[in-house]
Amino acid sequence: MKIAILPGDGIGPEIIEQAVKVLSALGESFEMETAPVGGAGYEAHGHPLPEGTLKLAKEADAVLFGAVGDWKYDTLERALRPEQAILGLRKNLNLFANLRPAILYPELAGASTLKPEVVSGLDILIIRELTGDIYFGQPRGVRTAPDGAFKGEREGFDTMRYAESEIRRIAHVAFQAARKRGKRLTSVDKANVLETFQFWKDIVTDVHKEYQDVALDHMYVDNAAMQLVRAPKKFDVIVTGNMFGDILSDAAAMLTGSIGMLPSASLDAKNKGLYEPSHGSAPDIAGKGVANPLATILSAAMMLRYSLNRAEQADRIENAVKKVLVQGLRTPDIYEEGTRKVGTVEMGDAVVQALQ
Ligand code: IPM
Ligand code: MG
Repeated sequence: MKIAILPGDGIGPEIIEQAVKVLSALGESFEMETAPVGGAGYEAHGHPLPEGTLKLAKEADAVLFGAVGDWKYDTLERALRPEQAILGLRKNLNLFANLRPAILYPELAGASTLKPEVVSGLDILIIRELTGDIYFGQPRGVRTAPDGAFKGEREGFDTMRYAESEIRRIAHVAFQAARKRGKRLTSVDKANVLETFQFWKDIVTDVHKEYQDVALDHMYVDNAAMQLVRAPKKFDVIVTGNMFGDILSDAAAMLTGSIGMLPSASLDAKNKGLYEPSHGSAPDIAGKGVANPLATILSAAMMLRYSLNRAEQADRIENAVKKVLVQGLRTPDIYEEGTRKVGTVEMGDAVVQALQ
């Protein structure tokens, strides 16, 4: 089993180091190879997704990804900015299904900005389509407006589009995931305004015929945003498009107290995947040793479960994380009075200890 390790920028390298430490402590013989990506790729090879990095990601059985981005690259042309690395990996590896679980560990109920009774016991799964929608739709750009009230003016434009097979395959992933959980699926759209999402709704409804044991409902994205902060526990699995999923998954992450706790998996049709924490590169705290490595460690657990067929090892890691939380260890993002504040490395070491 070969794992491509792509640490990236900002806090990426420090959190990845902890996850690699945990993986190495499992007693399995994984081959791990590291390559630069994002700003680090640009510095090393003049491109955020260097050829060698993409090649490694393609030939590996799974990819463990840290985070990319730094303000200092904001003035580069778009094609050279760090974010292009993750978008390029998703597209090139066909990682169309993004799984973002939001689980609230009971010990962290007080760390959420929402009332404990609203979030305690939260366990939802957001499934975000990841290679289509307005993120990748062509044409896009800046042009002279060809028509409309602002004809002749400069305008920026993007294209929202979804093909039928694109919607079908993500709907299948979502129904199957719901089947393994609470058997409830909410499809989030904007069918009241957008053609693309009326079509989305119609196709999801059609796929539902094959999954009559799963209860399906549809919700507009604005209402879904409201329900996520009003009564998040009413959800089981949510499926939505690329852009709505980007926004809703950040909101869902905050329900759990800290985005520093949330792993994610991005899978292709054969469950090959890229695993990354849901949070970004946080350049403001990079190198200070205070970043929370748990989202990355939990992403490694998802990798073992979904791509490497090592469910027991995934359980071991997840249980070890629960154990360190019960022990009261907290990085600053989840710290509360009465707990013990630790840094990135200490947290990683504690998880390794708890594996034994
Ligand atoms: C995410 C991020 C990315 C996205 C950015 C970094 C391109 O926000 O993974 O949610 O928008 O998909
Ligand atoms: Mg995002």
